[in-house]
Parts: sequence; structure tokens; C-alpha cells
Amino acid sequence: MTRPTTEPEAVPFPLRIPGEPFPPPRYEEYRRREGLVLTHMPNGGRVWLVTRHAEVRAVLTSKKVSANPDREGFPHISDTMGVPRQEQIPGWFVGLDSPEHDRFRKALIPEFTVRRVRGMRPSIERVVDGLIDSMLAAGDSADLVADLALPVPSLVISSLLGVPPVDRGFFESRTRTLVTIRNSTEQQRDTAAKELLRYLNRLIGIKVSWPGDDLISRLLATGAISTQELTGVLMLLLIAGHETTANNISLGVVTLLLNPEWIGDRRAVEETLRFHSVADLVSLRVAVEDVEIGGRLIRAGEGIIPLVAAANHDQEAFSCPHAFDPGRTERHHVAFGYGVHQCLGQNLVRAEMEIVYQRLFERIPALRLAVPVEELPLKYDGVLCGLHELPVRWDRPATA
Ligand code: HEM
Repeated sequence: MTRPTTEPEAVPFPLRIPGEPFPPPRYEEYRRREGLVLTHMPNGGRVWLVTRHAEVRAVLTSKKVSANPDREGFPHISDTMGVPRQEQIPGWFVGLDSPEHDRFRKALIPEFTVRRVRGMRPSIERVVDGLIDSMLAAGDSADLVADLALPVPSLVISSLLGVPPVDRGFFESRTRTLVTIRNSTEQQRDTAAKELLRYLNRLIGIKVSWPGDDLISRLLATGAISTQELTGVLMLLLIAGHETTANNISLGVVTLLLNPEWIGDRRAVEETLRFHSVADLVSLRVAVEDVEIGGRLIRAGEGIIPLVAAANHDQEAFSCPHAFDPGRTERHHVAFGYGVHQCLGQNLVRAEMEIVYQRLFERIPALRLAVPVEELPLKYDGVLCGLHELPVRWDRPATA
């Protein structure tokens, strides 16, 4: 491709327009443009949007770009979200570059292998069944976001971390406050983050003295991560894995209700991840050296936003990309990012989604939406896409 020499016309920031469908139809037009798409952050910083699948992968594997949010020019999309800044919490390793990043990654990989996750399935099934039991006991309707999608990842991670069952209610409520932006104030989220940090510190102290069969004890035993860093690592696992998973669960249930021929087919999990691409604005980067991507020269210090939802709907990479087709053979979506920061929790997420879909539709075959699909409240918090609520109903089985 020849390098475009003229400055492209910049698109407006912020990138999300309230009420717009997701992924935004504008992405189609962005992908057709020559080179990359330019935008300006409110502080004037230049940021390049990357929308084609091959170019998103090129950015995320380039050694000339950094994931460090403290670098000049990094595109900070949102300062709230309850996400602590890296300098405040050591161990927030998604914001580190190689070689510092490698030490954390190496210590954590064994915790999320396919084999390890297979061993977690019975505990995930207990969590999911317990929540469905409560829904059924409560009547013939539920909000699947509050009653299932949000608690599943939180309860699963608390069991993985070795949070004692008696504390799981506390743990779940604080993580929920942290991520449900519509129902909590910034002050409440700040308090919840502090309480969680205090709790995690205490829990680490307990595991130092009384190790168990859990992730915290195993990480401590490696000696690779200090106890202070471990708090940041745990907070990262909590935040990275909570709303992302919840949003995929709820959007996946809606998509299956609209495409019931795929209920019971495991391939629906992977296609849900691609189709919805909820973590569209997560893999943010900044160039640390001049780098050429998509024929465009990005200067050191300029921000880069690989839009994974755009890449996952690129027709050069996926046939009929806007169709929900679990039978498709292309498996190279970038919903979990790509390269050295590719999602560590992906095997766990797949198991959670698979078990939720299987148990939910098996146990409540008459599940249906309680409102027309157009009325479902879509959630854009500036970073992730999901649903605020998912009202559903079912017919109670006739009692004898
Ligand atoms: C990284 C998506 C669930 C832990 C990432 C990244 C994406 C992502 C796009 C790359 C970030 C970057 O490039 O800067 C998702 C989605 C999820 C999900 C869509 C649910 C459907 C989880 C879960 C966990 C988790 C359940 C753990 C319990 C992590 C961690 C990283 C990460 C630790 C940082 C990896 C690194 O920097 O090496 N995730 N994630 N994620 N994710 Fe996930």
C-alpha cells in the first residue's frame, strides 16, 4: 500500500454516540478509508483508530508500541471506571511492557490453562445452578444481569482466589458496585475499591500464614510476585474479568433467544465473543518509536486505539461478518486482544459462558424476553458495551 501523505480529516471524540447500535455502523466506513482514522483527545493529543483486522494484529504485536498508561500520549479513554492507575497499585501488569510484564504473565499462565479451568468446572456449575435455583425460587421473572450475569464471574473468581464462602456476599457486592456505573456514584465506587483493596490485603496476609489450594497461595509459593504487587494482580483479575464476562453472558443469552436454532451448540460461545466484541476500547496503546501501520506513519508519542469490534466485523477476515453464525470456520477473532497482553482469563470465560448457556436453557427451556428487544437498555460506559438490565420471564411448571 502506498503511504497516504495528506493529513486525514479527523473524526470526533468521544468515539461513542449515545443510542447508536453496537458495533457502530461508522466502523464500516472507517475500514474503507485509506490508512488509519485520526481523532483528537480532549487534551488535543493525536490518536489513530485502527479498524482492519490485520492492522489491529500488527499494532498489538509491534515492539514499537507500549501499553503503559503513564507514557506521554497514551489515549486515556476513561479516568473513572474504578480502575486504579498503575502507579497507585503495583502489580497492575496489563499496563506494563516487556520485560517487566513477562514476570507477571509467566507466574499467572499456569492458573488459566485449559486443564486448570477444566478442574474448575464443577465449582462453576455449582455457582450457576445456585443462582438459577434462587431465580426459580423467586418467581417467574428475573433480571438476568443482576441475578446471573454479574454474580457468576464474581463468585467464580472469589472461589478461585480462595475467598472464604462467608465473605463471598461482601466480595460480590463490592465488585458489583465497582462495575455498575449506572447504579452507583463515583464516591461509592471509590469506597468499594478501597474496601476491596483492604480485604485483598488481609486475605493475602491470611494465605501467607495458612496457605491453601488457591491462586493466591500458589502465586505466593512461586516467590515471583511480592505481596504488595499481588494486591494489584488480584484487583486486575477482578476488574478485567467481571463486567467483560457479565456483558458477554447477557448479550449471548439475548442473541440465543433471537437465534434459538443455536441453543445447545457450544460454538455459540466463540461466535458471541466475536459478534459482540464487548471490549472494543480496552487495548489502548501509544507509539514509543515511529511505526508504520496500514501505510500510515504513526509518530512516537501518538496514541493508538485498535478497535477490536471493528476488526471482528472486517469482511476481509470474516465472511458475512455481521451475521451471527456459530458454524463459521474462521476462529481468529481478536475479542480477547492479541499478542503479549492477550486475555489471560479466556479459557475461564469460555467455560463460564458455556456452562451458563447450557444450564440456563436446560433448566428454563421456556425462557423469553420480558420486553421487546429494542427496549433492552444498552450500556456504553466509555470502555465496554453491554446491557444494564435483561428482564426475562418463563412459565412456571404446573404444580401437582
Ligand atoms: C487482558 C478481554 C475476561 C483477565 C484482556 C484484553 C482483552 C480482554 C481485550 C487485552 C488488553 C490489552 O490488550 O491491553 C476480555 C473479555 C473477557 C475477559 C472480552 C470476557 C468475555 C477475563 C477474565 C479474566 C481476565 C475472566 C481473569 C479472571 C485478564 C488479564 C489481562 C486481560 C489479567 C491482562 C493480560 C496481560 O496484560 O498480559 N482481556 N477479558 N479477563 N484479561 Fe481479559
